[in-house]
Amino acid sequence: MSHNTIAINQKMDKFDGRHSVWLFGYGSLIFKADFPFIERRAACIGNWTRRFWQGSHDHRGTPEQPGRVVTLVPEAGAVCHGMAYLITPEVFGHLDHREKNGYLRLATQIHFDDGGSEEGLVYIATEENAAFLGEASEQQIAQHIAAAHGPSGPNRDYLLELAEALRAMGRPDAHVFAIERHLRAIEQAAQPPAPPPVN
Ligand code: SIN
Repeated sequence: MSHNTIAINQKMDKFDGRHSVWLFGYGSLIFKADFPFIERRAACIGNWTRRFWQGSHDHRGTPEQPGRVVTLVPEAGAVCHGMAYLITPEVFGHLDHREKNGYLRLATQIHFDDGGSEEGLVYIATEENAAFLGEASEQQIAQHIAAAHGPSGPNRDYLLELAEALRAMGRPDAHVFAIERHLRAIEQAAQPPAPPPVN
């Protein structure tokens, strides 16, 4: 499968004819909502775990040096917390372009933190996509992220903004927070030594 998923996503017709659809965001869609939405609610989906296993050639890296961003991997019994947005179907043009590097729209049941649930969509990059990087240690992932930059900015900012957003929502994520700790340590070690005090 090619990296570019726009054409496949445009064929997804499950919600055709609807005036609005719920979209679940678990990565940059939590902290960067650069699209119009009718309503936003904290939410979760079941049996998926957030992992920094997807390559980013277009936002936080380049084709030569891809960054690492999150996708969801299946895990029975897991709960992934994020943000749900009620959007109109016109917004999918923008989202399909933004998520084109391997992410496919998937229908899923979205459970809202304040009660109730609705069927909606989530963008997931599966291991079949050509940009999938897969598992690595959290230390290795942090090293990778520390070195990557792309048109949307440094890869580190993606990690730190996601960690901050999850913290603000009261939804700690052990994987994200461990990579954040490793990144801080890498950046600390790279600091030049402080000059000796002048007296
Ligand atoms: C998402 O945020 O839901 C998808 C992954 C991303 O764009 O970071």
